Amino acid sequence: MASLGQIIFWSIISIIIILAGAIALIIGFGISGKHSITVTTFTSAGNIGEDGILSCTFEPDIKLNGIVIQWQKEGVVGLVHEFKEGKDNPSDQDKMFRGRTAVFADQVIVGNASLRLKKVQLTDAGTYKCHITTTKGKGNANLEYKTGAFSMPEMNVEYNASSENLRCEAPRWFPQPTVVWASQVNQGANFSEVSNTSFELNSENVTMKVVSVLYNVNINNTYSCMIENNIAKATGDIKVTDSEIKRRSHLQLLNSKASSCVSSFFAIIWVLLPLSPYLMLK
Ligand SMILES: *[C@@H]1O[C@H](CO)[C@@H](O)[C@H](O)[C@H]1NC(C)=O
Ligand SMILES: *[C@@H]1O[C@H](CO)[C@@H](O)[C@H](O)[C@H]1NC(C)=O
Ligand SMILES: *[C@@H]1O[C@H](CO)[C@@H](O)[C@H](O)[C@H]1NC(C)=O
Ligand SMILES: *[C@@H]1O[C@H](CO)[C@@H](O)[C@H](O)[C@H]1NC(C)=O
Ligand SMILES: *[C@@H]1O[C@H](CO)[C@@H](O)[C@H](O)[C@H]1NC(C)=O
Ligand SMILES: *[C@@H]1O[C@H](CO)[C@@H](O)[C@H](O)[C@H]1NC(C)=O
Repeated sequence: MASLGQIIFWSIISIIIILAGAIALIIGFGISGKHSITVTTFTSAGNIGEDGILSCTFEPDIKLNGIVIQWQKEGVVGLVHEFKEGKDNPSDQDKMFRGRTAVFADQVIVGNASLRLKKVQLTDAGTYKCHITTTKGKGNANLEYKTGAFSMPEMNVEYNASSENLRCEAPRWFPQPTVVWASQVNQGANFSEVSNTSFELNSENVTMKVVSVLYNVNINNTYSCMIENNIAKATGDIKVTDSEIKRRSHLQLLNSKASSCVSSFFAIIWVLLPLSPYLMLK
């Protein structure tokens, strides 16, 4: 049987432990705010053979010398890129990326950690991590980088003795896209029976030239040629009238979404540290 004294003693101890825990939690989150920073990346796509950008931003810090930017790629041992003490540090860089990367050094101070990647290759696709350390704390975020080829279509009219055909031609696509025609006058019409699309491998054996011909078109109607793969969608519009030909085209990257991550690792440590004397007491 526990005496009244013992019950009161243990009750007080319990209350102290609960209060200490609550205080530690509040302090822990207060301090952890200084130890984790927000880092945001944007899913992006690279056009093979051209230069690309892997986009990453972070909470800016006025102390440039305290900023370390590390880009890593899943499955690659060395670093993709490192920037510290105000300059690039290539010492731990993987061979795959040698001479091909750069941060925008003058933009780091405003919180831009984006990486420029020269001559994007198909094999550059994958999961990258943008890891930032500043005097305020650390943070990181992942980025899915897709690679392929995409280009704007050029629209032309092919005059023929008996009819007028439209020709939609785009020089570089990969993976193989789908091509769909549409018209403003007959919306929802299926033109697959009156068109012909062909793909021709370019000399580097990866990208292909896309040519699609739409037969027997009418004057005064606007036709659209839509080329799409898992990376991009391009549209070319053409309208032929008695006196002129109007053209318009645009290209859009698909699935551009931001991902953001605040590291919560430090919060846990700072909650546990003040608690440990009480845990040892038992
Ligand atoms: C970072 O800076 C570069 C160069 O000025 C710019 O092209 C890019 O859009 C910037 N990125 C972000 C996320 O602001
Ligand atoms: C004209 O178009 C028709 C089909 O629309 C095709 O059979 C014929 O070969 C074309 N002629 C020329 C000279 O392109
Ligand atoms: C158009 O018709 C073809 C067959 O003629 C069919 O394979 C295709 O799925 C149709 N497209 C649409 C968008 O309905
Ligand atoms: C489609 O185009 C290809 C290449 O230009 C040609 O070989 C083929 O005969 C054409 N098919 C039709 C149905 O016009
Ligand atoms: C492309 O493929 C052809 C035949 O398969 C080959 O002869 C040529 O060397 C290849 N070109 C390149 C750049 O790999
Ligand atoms: C096309 O439109 C113009 C002006 O709106 C008109 O004068 C012409 O007759 C039309 N042509 C056809 C073939 O519908």
